[in-house]
Amino acid sequence: MTSCSTRFSALLDRLRPEIESTLDRLVPAADTQPARIHEAMRYSLFAGGKRVRPALVLLTADALGLDITGDDVRVEASRTGGAALEMIHTYSLIHDDLPSLDDDDLRRGRPTLHRQYDEATAILAGDGLLTLGLTVLAAEPSAASDGARRRAAAMVGTAIGTLGMIGGQVDDLEAEKRPPEQPAQMLEAIHRRKTGALLVACLRLAGIYAEVSDELDGALAELGETVGLLFQIGDDILDVEGTSESLGKTAGKDAEADKLTYPALYGLSGAKRRRDDEHQRAHSLLEALPRPGHFPALLDYLVGRDH
Ligand code: IPE
Ligand code: IPE
Ligand code: MG
Ligand code: MG
Ligand code: MG
Repeated sequence: MTSCSTRFSALLDRLRPEIESTLDRLVPAADTQPARIHEAMRYSLFAGGKRVRPALVLLTADALGLDITGDDVRVEASRTGGAALEMIHTYSLIHDDLPSLDDDDLRRGRPTLHRQYDEATAILAGDGLLTLGLTVLAAEPSAASDGARRRAAAMVGTAIGTLGMIGGQVDDLEAEKRPPEQPAQMLEAIHRRKTGALLVACLRLAGIYAEVSDELDGALAELGETVGLLFQIGDDILDVEGTSESLGKTAGKDAEADKLTYPALYGLSGAKRRRDDEHQRAHSLLEALPRPGHFPALLDYLVGRDH
């Protein structure tokens, strides 16, 4: 790892306790009836994810010039909104692992939810996290204006819907069964939606709470797109190069399932070249931000990460 990405890992470690405590506050206690579903939601949510998405919301607020160590209402809203996106992300992982999707046994270093409980509980716990995440966005950040809450819920709903994350998941599964006619275009389109759309939403959410101009919203979206592609190409590479132990999920699963991935289409070195191009492009897009803040370190971390 480069020293920049090591520094960023340390920053993520510093942000994590606050992210975890916000999640803990927003999710019903494990003994709330029906206890089984709340226990299950917490099993997946508090299993040690990296928390990249809520961190990204906060670091965007920082890049917009806000003091994220303070109690500015826009930062407070970013904390709550970031937690909502982590719930939605965790729902997507629970469902991604189901037998009818990627059929995985290991997630965040633990048995997947459907293995630990059962399939019905995993489907419903995913539904529960998705629903709670959207409810929190629409209702919770009391610091945000009514208009900002409405825009946030609509923007995230669109990002994770059938034109965004769900659409990407559908095409990911389809490509596994039938090679698409234009694999390169399809691969990029899958990654931009299944993973990129939610990461774009992380940056735009902080922008909504900070009431940025349309121009700056566009710049955040463009940067988020690049971060999203960089992130998922990295995920594909880690599936080949990582170990199940370091990843906390089953390594080598993509090749086994014949997934359309960057290493499958371009080879490992071709995938790394494509990742490095996106990395450079992302650095060049930072000029559009009021200040780069922690973004240079974040981008280097995304290239250097080992899980
Ligand atoms: C994994 O996301 C799924 C993808 C969208 C690639 P992360 O790598 O952020 O997983 P956690 O949240 O740290 O477990
Ligand atoms: C997951 O992509 C994307 C979503 C959960 C929406 P992957 O299937 O590549 O994620 P991992 O590798 O299982 O974490
Ligand atoms: Mg998948
Ligand atoms: Mg998967
Ligand atoms: Mg993967």
